[in-house]
Amino acid sequence: MHEDNLSRADLSRDELGLETLAIRAGHLRGSEQEHGEPIYTTSSFVYGSAAEAAAKFGGDEAGNIYSRFTNPTVRFFEERLAAMEGGERCVATSSGMAAIMSTVLALLESGDEIVASRSIFGSSVSLFTKYFGKLGITTRFVELGDLDAWREAITPATKLLFAETPSNPLSEIGDIAALAEIAHEHNAWLAIDNCFCTPALQRPLTLGADIVIHSATKYLDGQGRTLGGAVVGSHALMEEVFGVVRTCGPCLSLSMLGYSSRGWRRSTSACRRTARGHWIWRVGLKCIRAWSVCITRGLKVIRSMPWPNSSKRPSVLCWAW
Ligand SMILES: Cc1ncc(COP(=O)(O)O)c(C=O)c1O
Repeated sequence: MHEDNLSRADLSRDELGLETLAIRAGHLRGSEQEHGEPIYTTSSFVYGSAAEAAAKFGGDEAGNIYSRFTNPTVRFFEERLAAMEGGERCVATSSGMAAIMSTVLALLESGDEIVASRSIFGSSVSLFTKYFGKLGITTRFVELGDLDAWREAITPATKLLFAETPSNPLSEIGDIAALAEIAHEHNAWLAIDNCFCTPALQRPLTLGADIVIHSATKYLDGQGRTLGGAVVGSHALMEEVFGVVRTCGPCLSLSMLGYSSRGWRRSTSACRRTARGHWIWRVGLKCIRAWSVCITRGLKVIRSMPWPNSSKRPSVLCWAW
């Protein structure tokens, strides 16, 4: 991409709110001064000379070569999500499952082990047991909230701890900071599937996780119109994941990008509103329950009180109470 006719929004992630990052981060404005992010539906790119092409293909010069490797629209998706998650780099994938597959293919090898929460999405269980099993990567499953079980399941061959929190479909919650501590005590990485919360509600990297996985198909998109995924983490780890994506090909489809990440501001606010609504609802329910317990107990006390004229006693007093 010719960066000279593009201006990158000057963003300091620390100063900007999440909703601003959700609409600004990663957007390279073109010479048309477009307001919305342009969609580059191109498989390949052109060069001013054979020498320039050779330099780019040879890796001596930065730039786009082929959209399985990099694409400007995919890049803005990646930069936006990395900024929102507080990660150094993001690698976009064709789906959430592709994100998990690429992470494990990139970081583990035959003989390595994974300790995973028992409470994870069904396809993730199949991926771990059936397909990673074929590669000689073993997975042990433990209860999400049982930290001792995580510790006990770890062996010297464990390289990765994997959890969803909240989990699909049971909405079980794990302690990300405690799991990160356990992982790091044993020289392992912690990967958190953050698909249910999105960075609008939870940023696992800030709690100590090494890798965040997304099915962008779900709340990140929020509109039910895309299929996508992403992995976010440090430059070093993401360089490995990028290697798998560019070589094996589970890259984010350009036709999906038309919708993805354009609605992030809306979904960010919607996510927060839903969570707030849920919280208010739960607190409200608790208050109603507490009041009803008080009223029932109060009535019992009143009923048990000695009363001179038994025909009048409870109703009058009840309403007064
Ligand atoms: C928690 C979780 N992770 C991963 C996935 C897989 O995502 P995708 O369908 O985008 O491959 C899903 C899908 O429902 C999910 O709920």
